[in-house]
Amino acid sequence: MTILDGNKISNDIKNEIALEVQKMKDKGEKVPHLAAIIVGNDGASLTYVGSKVKACERVGFESTLVQMSNTTSEIELLDKINELNMNPDIDGFIVQLPLPSQIDTQKVLLAVNPDKDVDGFHPTNFGKMALDMSTFIPATPFGILELLERYGVETKGKHTVVIGRSHIVGRPMSILMGRKGFPGNSTVTLTHSHTKNITQITSQADIIISALGVPNFLKAEMVKDDAVVIDVGITRVTDESSPKGYTITGDVDFENVSKKASFITPVPGGVGPMTIAMLLKNTLLAREHHRK
Ligand code: GUN
Repeated sequence: MTILDGNKISNDIKNEIALEVQKMKDKGEKVPHLAAIIVGNDGASLTYVGSKVKACERVGFESTLVQMSNTTSEIELLDKINELNMNPDIDGFIVQLPLPSQIDTQKVLLAVNPDKDVDGFHPTNFGKMALDMSTFIPATPFGILELLERYGVETKGKHTVVIGRSHIVGRPMSILMGRKGFPGNSTVTLTHSHTKNITQITSQADIIISALGVPNFLKAEMVKDDAVVIDVGITRVTDESSPKGYTITGDVDFENVSKKASFITPVPGGVGPMTIAMLLKNTLLAREHHRK
């Protein structure tokens, strides 16, 4: 069994990006600049955005954090997005999800300039992805592809089962794994809350990508020997014995599933750090695109 080490691979990617940034600096060019908008004070979202800003510093990017109150109106947020769209100094930006209920998420995603949409959530970019055109691929699916590629995990002709059809992970992942090329060329089954007899489906999978958010959902008896198991779950589970009062728990019963798997991602230290590295990669691509 091989652990797909997201900490190591994301560090490698950050080092590669830092080298590119150094070359830009040496030539006197402007370095990439990522902005992030966060609305409200959800603890998990603040942590994720904080990690994104810290990662920018680590590779030499400029970063801007825009914090807006929980009572921000839709129009105030759309104004801020327009400001970032128009600001030539910003190469890419993200609006951290989820948003408070008074704001229509679809309207917000549509307002982001697709050329600066480093999350790859705008329908233009999502459509390009589905049509194999060059674009920003959403960071979490992009990170999973990168892990599979760098560990040389075979995907061609394999049966990939994706659990969860979220717009951020499950849906794009199901498209990407079926695309021509590597990683890709697999036969994909997308499962969700209405899927019947999920164990029958997962136990036929060569590759399982679980993006459900239900701690320890995937048990050893749902997985066949030598399966590749990718765990996208990052649920905070109350744990009085931990200093933070919670532990981050994945969708996969790691202790037992890892005994059967050929490759598996841990939580934490698997897909999570890859998401941040690929957001930086998308920002670098946005910078290069704007320079041309
Ligand atoms: N919320 C959970 N994951 C993500 C992500 O990748 N991007 C944004 N903007 N919000 C998120």
